[in-house]
Amino acid sequence: MTSITQMVENLVRPEIRALSAYPVGDASGMVKLDAMENPHQWSEELKQAWAKKIQHADINRYPHPQAPKVKDGLRKAMNVPEQFDCLLGNGSDEIIQLLTMLVAKPRAKVMAPEPGFVMYKMIAIFCGVEYVGIPLTADFELDMPAMLTCINEQQPELIFLAQPNNPTANLYSESQLRELIQASQGLVIMDEAYLPFSSRNHLHFLEEFDNVLVMRTLSKVGLAGLRLGMIFGRSEWLNELDKIRMPYNINVLTQISAEFALEHYDILLGQCELIKQERTRMQNALTELGFTCYKSEANFILARADMAFEGQAKEIFEQLKRHNVLIKCLAGGHPLLENCLRFTIGTEGENGLLLEALKDIL
Ligand SMILES: Cc1ncc(COP(=O)(O)O)c(C=O)c1O
Repeated sequence: MTSITQMVENLVRPEIRALSAYPVGDASGMVKLDAMENPHQWSEELKQAWAKKIQHADINRYPHPQAPKVKDGLRKAMNVPEQFDCLLGNGSDEIIQLLTMLVAKPRAKVMAPEPGFVMYKMIAIFCGVEYVGIPLTADFELDMPAMLTCINEQQPELIFLAQPNNPTANLYSESQLRELIQASQGLVIMDEAYLPFSSRNHLHFLEEFDNVLVMRTLSKVGLAGLRLGMIFGRSEWLNELDKIRMPYNINVLTQISAEFALEHYDILLGQCELIKQERTRMQNALTELGFTCYKSEANFILARADMAFEGQAKEIFEQLKRHNVLIKCLAGGHPLLENCLRFTIGTEGENGLLLEALKDIL
């Protein structure tokens, strides 16, 4: 009889067996500065108004398959012109998966600059599509000759450009982005997950280029728990994507909650303003402690810890955990991120606790 281990080996694709599941550490009881969430709570009044809406949810029914009220709310909150279509996903992670499935012909390629959002590569592997990562320059700008060579020689079907980028937190030059889009015969996804903290958006690319879609999420603005991502663009693309979307991917509670939250979007944006103010304070404070901080257009700071001894980032990360503060250690993830840490911006109080712990450690 074949053992279960052997059956798994025989049946599961080797590239899946070689993967580790997306790591999510246990953060219970910790100051959580690892996942780019909005740390601010809703007022009691707002929570009660939301609970009232939820009370009337038709939980016995399947959700609306297209969630039109959510889409209307998004359009209004984000000023998206009517001529562009919208498709929703269970987080933008799901949309990345749909996009990759859409182009997953034999020998299809997905390309992204690196270091970047890890799910582009993971999902390419899930879908059996080749992934090509092109390293950024040492100061985290686009390596234009390398990007253009890859585009011209390999013509990837799909290119992901996160703007601002995770984990480097920066925006690339807009004229360089245009150059890449023009050179590409593939579909280019502007991933604007960190838009609420950024000085630039790329919605206008939809009017300029037929091969661009703009992807966003409600996760970073304050609704990570809802899992709602969205993509805007020409219906020619989105109609195809819609065919491979699970019909009820946005559940009843998410739809009601998102409709409600979008009516109060200004409150969420107000919280993002507080985060941006704290970002400035933290940039200064971390620099004073000896970190090299990179300019951030997002709700986190990429910092290099090369002020004392090599390999210090991992040690600082571990010691912070002992102080009950969870951040993200990026060292070891990519050669350009040697000795790097990523600090999500928390509330003023949480950031204070982080700084106190760092003062204690360093
Ligand atoms: C660049 C980027 N895109 C997309 C996502 C996924 O966001 P969501 O929560 O909508 O799945 C993240 C999450 O960290 C991200 O950093």
